[in-house]
Amino acid sequence: MPAARLEVERLSAGYGPTQIVSEMSFEVPAGGRLAILGRNGVGKTTLLATLMGLSTRHHGKILADGQDISVMRTSARALCGMGYVPQTRDIFGSLTVEENLSTGFKTRERQGLSEIYEMFPRLAERRRHLGLQLSGGEQQMLSMARTLLGKPSILLLDEPLEGLAPVICDQLMETISRLATSGDMTIVLVEQQIERALNFADRVMVVERGRSVWEGASDELKSDRSLVNRLLGVGIH
Ligand SMILES: Nc1ncnc2c1ncn2[C@@H]1O[C@H](COP(=O)(O)OP(=O)(O)O)[C@@H](O)[C@H]1O
Ligand SMILES: [Mg+2]
Repeated sequence: MPAARLEVERLSAGYGPTQIVSEMSFEVPAGGRLAILGRNGVGKTTLLATLMGLSTRHHGKILADGQDISVMRTSARALCGMGYVPQTRDIFGSLTVEENLSTGFKTRERQGLSEIYEMFPRLAERRRHLGLQLSGGEQQMLSMARTLLGKPSILLLDEPLEGLAPVICDQLMETISRLATSGDMTIVLVEQQIERALNFADRVMVVERGRSVWEGASDELKSDRSLVNRLLGVGIH
């Protein structure tokens, strides 16, 4: 599947009746790279979960390449090209790397395994190790690899760098950038490492209390540290 356009129109959502995400609208063109920034607890994870159908949508629309996926189940959204790598790195600790990569996938998808091992040589080396024996960085690679086996056309990444050593962050960002430049994927990256996120993305959305409070080109933020400070309350680092 080639990269797909993602459109979000006045989306409000939360958990049951509790509203966390309010009236969010944004668009990522096919092959685009959007970074979503914001302090802890502002609703970034809830937004991604809502795009995947894992929270309660109150109103608004989500379209993948023009197709309305707002009321579809999570599995149907995946078939429409949505791929999600959750902040919690959902892997099976008691299964090996290879088992993690083979369970839940059809034969056709498993054929992508060699490609995945090429992308993450570290996982190839550790294919017989259990999930729980992996380092944080390897677990993140495995979580991402599982999602990539589904060949998503829109990839949602929730803080992939959280808790990882700088050298591993560099490697992962390189892999993510390579995916983006392949032209096969539209990428939405939620990230706390502002500088890395700005270097990756072409556009940025800043979220505060469940609302989009700023949207623009990442270059605008890169060249205006006082704006970054005002929006995110931190110096760039
Ligand atoms: N499963 C849940 N049920 C109820 N409230 C939740 C749940 N998950 C998160 N929240 C609340 O939603 C708000 C936004 O959380 P989250 O989307 O995780 O923010 P972020 O990813 O930006 O740190 C927080 O106030 C959090 O307590
Ligand atoms: Mg989060």
